[in-house]
Amino acid sequence: MHRRWSFLAAFAALVGILSSAALAQTSRATFPKDFDEYVLYATYDRGSAKEEAFATRETLAIAKAGKPLPPGTQLVLGIWKNNALTEYFVMEKGVNWGADFPAEVRNGDWHFQQFDLNRQVRRTATGDRCMSCHGSQARSDFLFTWDRMQSYLP
Ligand code: HEC
Repeated sequence: MHRRWSFLAAFAALVGILSSAALAQTSRATFPKDFDEYVLYATYDRGSAKEEAFATRETLAIAKAGKPLPPGTQLVLGIWKNNALTEYFVMEKGVNWGADFPAEVRNGDWHFQQFDLNRQVRRTATGDRCMSCHGSQARSDFLFTWDRMQSYLP
C-alpha cells in the first residue's frame, strides 16, 4: 500500500517537472492582426543584412510620452538576410505573462516568438535566445529600440 502511494507521489512529481519544463517553452506572443497598419520606426542597416522595427502609432505615442508600454503591446522586427526579408520576430506584452517563466529567465511580462513570412510560428534555435539577449535591456523595458521609439518623428 505504501509503496503504491510513493510511486504515485513520484509520478505526480515527475509530471509536475515535465509540465513546468513545457511551460517554460511556451510563448503566447501572436503575430499582430493589424500589422499592415504598423509604422516603421527604426532601420538597422548592416550591408546585406538589415532589421526593421515596427510598432503601432499608439505604441509610439505612448513611448514618446515616456509612459510604460501597456499589456497588449506588440512589436515586430523584420529580419533581412542577403538583401531579402526572411522572417519576423515578435514581442508581445500580456497581463502577468512573466509568471510563465522562472524569475531568472523572464523579461518582465514580454513573450517572444518567431514567424515566417506567412506569419505562421516558425521556431528555430534562435527562439531560445530571445530572452537571454533582451534580458540585458531591463532598464528600458527589455527593448533595444526604446530610444528610437522616443525619437521617432512621423
Ligand atoms: C543576440 C541578441 C538578440 C537576440 C538573441 C534577439 N534579439 Fe531582438 N533585438 C536585439 C537588438 C540588438 C535589437 C535592436 C535592433 C538591432 O540592433 O538590430 C533587437 C530588437 C528587437 C525587437 C524590436 C523591439 C525592441 O526590443 O527594441 C523585437 C520585436 C525583437 N528584437 C524580438 C526578438 C525575438 C522574438 C527574438 C528571438 C526569436 C530576439 N529578438 C532575439 C537583440 C537580440
